[in-house]
Amino acid sequence: MSKAKLNKRIDMIEPSMTIGISAKAKDMCETGISVLTFSAGEPDFDTPENVKRAGIEAIKNGFTKYTAAGGINELKDAVVKKEKERNGLDYTRENVCISVGAKHSLYNIGAVMLEEGDEVIIPAPYWVTYEAIVKFTGATPVIVRTKEENGFVLDKNELEKAITGNTKIILINNPSNPTGATYEKEDLQFIAELAEKYDLWIISDEIYEDIVFDGYKPVSIATLSDYAKQRTLVVNGTSKSYSMTGWRIGYTCGDKEIISAMTKLQSQSTSNPTSISQMAAVEAIIGPQDSVTMMREKFEERRDYIVKALNEIEGLTCVTPKGAFYVFPNVSSCYGKEYEGSKINNSMDFAMVLLEKARVAVVPGIAFGEDDFVRISFATDLDTIKKGMEALKQFVNALK
Ligand SMILES: Cc1ncc(COP(=O)(O)O)c(C=O)c1O
Repeated sequence: MSKAKLNKRIDMIEPSMTIGISAKAKDMCETGISVLTFSAGEPDFDTPENVKRAGIEAIKNGFTKYTAAGGINELKDAVVKKEKERNGLDYTRENVCISVGAKHSLYNIGAVMLEEGDEVIIPAPYWVTYEAIVKFTGATPVIVRTKEENGFVLDKNELEKAITGNTKIILINNPSNPTGATYEKEDLQFIAELAEKYDLWIISDEIYEDIVFDGYKPVSIATLSDYAKQRTLVVNGTSKSYSMTGWRIGYTCGDKEIISAMTKLQSQSTSNPTSISQMAAVEAIIGPQDSVTMMREKFEERRDYIVKALNEIEGLTCVTPKGAFYVFPNVSSCYGKEYEGSKINNSMDFAMVLLEKARVAVVPGIAFGEDDFVRISFATDLDTIKKGMEALKQFVNALK
């Protein structure tokens, strides 16, 4: 029997490395090996009670059938209200598509907008999935690197230099996964002006907008000019703000034609996001927000601890993130060394040897386009963070 002949594009993408490392750590745990896990991209808190209750009510009320492919009106209205109150953005239902998580929103945007020959500018370090989605559509990701010494903030000249006649989209993520870097209004203004100058679209992934520190208030690039409003697809969802990763609700706000194309694609692929999750998401978005504040405060406390602990480890450096729940320390001073005979030459070796020998799970920076770093998620309790940072310190100190 001949081997299955797959679509040539599926070989162009790698499985998600963040999910891969978490799975390996989980396998180790299941065989009785205890692992301190810092690889997951999800809050460790439970979904808020009011949100869970809304899901349970939906089931009890029999709200368990197909819904409109692009989402129920109640949830679209909740998104419209939230974007107006929170970001000052005016949308109507026709500007909103509810999808099966923000990852699905991004995938659908790629699928309806991109084709071979198109280029998408992605600042690095970037969230693993951006590059994969662009490649899967046949378009080309154009990576613009940022520097640790600039706090991973995008250099305006580098960005403009990356634009060619084929550039279609600039993709920004504020705050950023994996660095926690944030954009100031003037940086966003510059990107909005560039988009107008070169007739580009913008994808603004705002999924970490609620997880921000030091009083930082994110501005949506879509608010910065009429052009930016027309040309920005705002992507967001309930996974991070409300600890609802498993409920799978994401959304896109923007141009009606693109939203309608995304909805058409959903109608022929996933159909609607889960009816029950949609009802829970309505409650999450328009219900009480105190759990968001509680989680944000906890994340900030952990961020303060972890950044200090990492910078105290000799040879490591760590930029202070202003948002999201990750730190991205530079571990390259460990390269060329070994731990009990296991050589470390890159971020993958670092993460693997650290997991196998010290039982600490982090994600190699290469998954985000930067091999000198690893990503450590602080979406875990302070006690685990303290133990993990101590284990990491001992590991680094023992390298020869
Ligand atoms: C930057 C970024 N965007 C989008 C997502 C997707 O979230 P979800 O599909 O759970 O809504 C993630 C999840 O890790 C993320 O880090």
